[in-house]
Amino acid sequence: MEMRPCGKSEIEISPMGIGCWSYGGGDYWGPQAQSDVTAVAHAALDAGINFFDTAEGYNEGRSEEALGIALKDRRHEAVIGTKVSSPDPEIIRERCKASLQRLQTDYIDIYMIHWYHDDYAIEDSMVELDKLREDGLIRAIGVCNFGVEQLTATLDTGTEVIANQLCYNLLSRGIEVELLPLCQKHNLGILGYMPLLQGLLTGKYKSADELPPVHSRFRHFSNDRPMAKHGEHGAEEEVFATLERIRKIAEKEQIPMSRLAIAWTLAKQGITCILVGTRNVDELKMNLHVFEYLPSSSIIEELDKLTLPLLKKMGSNLDYFLGKRTR
Ligand SMILES: NC(=O)c1ccc[n+]([C@@H]2O[C@H](COP(=O)([O-])OP(=O)(O)OC[C@H]3O[C@@H](n4cnc5c(N)ncnc54)[C@H](OP(=O)(O)O)[C@@H]3O)[C@@H](O)[C@H]2O)c1
Repeated sequence: MEMRPCGKSEIEISPMGIGCWSYGGGDYWGPQAQSDVTAVAHAALDAGINFFDTAEGYNEGRSEEALGIALKDRRHEAVIGTKVSSPDPEIIRERCKASLQRLQTDYIDIYMIHWYHDDYAIEDSMVELDKLREDGLIRAIGVCNFGVEQLTATLDTGTEVIANQLCYNLLSRGIEVELLPLCQKHNLGILGYMPLLQGLLTGKYKSADELPPVHSRFRHFSNDRPMAKHGEHGAEEEVFATLERIRKIAEKEQIPMSRLAIAWTLAKQGITCILVGTRNVDELKMNLHVFEYLPSSSIIEELDKLTLPLLKKMGSNLDYFLGKRTR
């Protein structure tokens, strides 16, 4: 497996990483057996996938716990990214130590701020994160979901940030407008999340009504959907028409739609690593096949072209959940 440096750092990660949000089980993703988590972690490491992405906020810490159990004897082979929910400088150290305990490790490779918070001065949060780095509790600092203004303010603090973790998939291309070029200019690693839009890009849903409410709360769907809080009209018709056209390309290529969707993100310049939520070894095996499939430039162009109207409709806002946390 080709390894890539994450931004300017010496941390080398695989182009595909394991998204651990469902680990530990909970309301959002339902039950998740520890045996599957452990099996995925070991099979991933055996296949050369070394990056695991979790957060203190995933299932109230149980995702970190489950990952800690899974990686117990192979910690040194893995690169762990986890996130602090609230960058309150007064409590960051305490939160970091709690994550370390749940992960059963004495260092976090990439410690990220989950979302920008206007309640805390970014300068103060960065000072605390830098102290954690100097003390060896973390190896590097990252951010997630930081928009152009928020990222610029963060970089202006002078503290080294190595990565921005952002939503990126065929139906959510907002970062391409301004943020991706900015990250590239500053040599930041980009960790792309939700390459399957939480299952939508596997082709298993034929209409928005079939989606579980947690997955139809995104800006792609109407604000009338039960858990939606973004206040927008959505683009349901365009989303399902686009999905149908993607499905036809996958059919022509004789591959599952999930593989085409992941391959498209992997082919994109500037994306360091794509994080795929992987619940069991069968899904991992399916997703690993992506490394045997290199889409031609004409397929990439066709996918770019057919998803462009949706990008134009949804714009550069990279908060696909609430639509108001980034600027
Ligand atoms: N920083 C942030 O704010 C943020 C936000 C979201 C996600 N993330 C990170 O990014 C990771 C990935 O995103 P995600 O998990 O939300 O969404 P995703 O990767 O787009 O979708 C994951 C879901 O797709 C299904 N899947 C995976 N491989 C499949 C295959 N080969 N065939 C069929 N279905 C397959 C699984 O669902 P089922 O098995 O349940 O059907 C899986 O749970 C997360 O785990 C998390 O680490 C970060």
